[in-house]
Amino acid sequence: MGAPLDLCIYGLGYIGLPTAVVCAEAGLHVHGVEISETKRACLAEGSSPIEEPGLQEALTACLQTGRLKVSAQPTQAAVHLVAVPTPFQAGGRGDPQPDLSYVLAAGDAIATVARPHDLVILESTSPPGATEKLAKHLQGLGCDQLLYAYCPERVLPGHILRELVENDRVVGGLSPEATERAVEFYRHFVSGEVLATTARTAEYVKLAENTFRDINIAYANELAMICERDPVDVAEVITLANRHPRVQILNPGIGVGGHCISVDPWFLVSSAPQQAEVIRQARRRNDGTPVHLAKRLAALMKARGFSQAALLGVAYKPDVDDDRESPAWHFATALTKLEINVAVADPLFVDHPHLVSTQAALAQAEVIIVGAGHSVFKALEPEHVAGWTQARLVFDPTASLDHQRWSEAGFHILKVGNQTGWDV
Ligand SMILES: NC(=O)c1ccc[n+]([C@@H]2O[C@H](COP(=O)([O-])OP(=O)(O)OC[C@H]3O[C@@H](n4cnc5c(N)ncnc54)[C@H](O)[C@@H]3O)[C@@H](O)[C@H]2O)c1
Repeated sequence: MGAPLDLCIYGLGYIGLPTAVVCAEAGLHVHGVEISETKRACLAEGSSPIEEPGLQEALTACLQTGRLKVSAQPTQAAVHLVAVPTPFQAGGRGDPQPDLSYVLAAGDAIATVARPHDLVILESTSPPGATEKLAKHLQGLGCDQLLYAYCPERVLPGHILRELVENDRVVGGLSPEATERAVEFYRHFVSGEVLATTARTAEYVKLAENTFRDINIAYANELAMICERDPVDVAEVITLANRHPRVQILNPGIGVGGHCISVDPWFLVSSAPQQAEVIRQARRRNDGTPVHLAKRLAALMKARGFSQAALLGVAYKPDVDDDRESPAWHFATALTKLEINVAVADPLFVDHPHLVSTQAALAQAEVIIVGAGHSVFKALEPEHVAGWTQARLVFDPTASLDHQRWSEAGFHILKVGNQTGWDV
């Protein structure tokens, strides 16, 4: 390929912005389209609207060289890459349903600039058939000679820049020519393998990966619920079971959150509601876990005359400033409904209206709960914490703290899937 490839990316969020930066670093001319005025204003000042190691430095360099430009409007490009949200619509009593409105809106924008033979790549996690739906949408808008491919994203927040380059990618076109063009595109910046398939298979691959993890965690959470009725420790049961060479049970916790694992299995359920029984049940088990744990903790607190809790961490996982679908919030809400006052702290969120500082949360607390295992909480000195709070009970569903150290400092640790200390 002679001249540098032009790329137009729709959606500059957790996925789109790092992708734009990595592609610009690889020598592509990248035009980012973002509908959020706040994010555009932030980017216009040269600041990254999201926290991700290494992103700010790389962004500054790309903006300075002019390889990355940001606008509300799309521009002509050989490749159009869609990385907009794909949430679900809560289905009342029914199953949640995928919401493709952002993807189709990106399609509307592409239609204003697309030229024959441009390649449209959908990266947003989507239900089976979404790439075809996007293609039909664009055809309906008069764009009938475009190529389409799907390529799921599987990066780990905190490691996005490295994983965007090193991870293997699964790429599937709606036609062999589209697959070939899309594979060629990813080879510009991916050092991992680029694996070619069809668009429909690639859509399934992403959903299959995240659903596998959701079901495995649901099993661990259910096992914890079973074990808490017996004098065993679920953590020890799982550690020993995992010594079997073909068993790998994940860890139980406070629930499952984030924009992927707690959402994507519903896309499979929506595409095959009659068949997807295990997937639906696993989702319900994980969604029910924060409420189950809140009821258990509230019963213990009431039996001891306690009504004040400090919840440390509301991100959906450690060391990220992302609380989408966070089980810690569901846990806090459930505790509040059970008439426990919860003061919530999470230093990773700046200027959050419902959060207080860690010390303020601990000041009134009778029980401490670790909702997200951030490094900053792991680094707390239990001897210092003992001076900030009267609380001596710590519920650590995320198994984040050094339990021996905290016990030596006078704290009683409550774990999931365990009876010790839970007697009401
Ligand atoms: N965050 C992750 O770790 C992750 C991992 C794998 C897959 N995904 C998938 O990637 C997709 C994007 O996720 P994200 O985390 O980057 O979301 P995000 O909300 O951080 O970013 C999406 C961005 O798209 C913008 N946007 C919405 N509609 C637009 C439009 N029509 N044109 C231009 N911009 C538009 C939004 O303002 C937002 O800034 C989702 O489908 C998600 O499931 C995310």
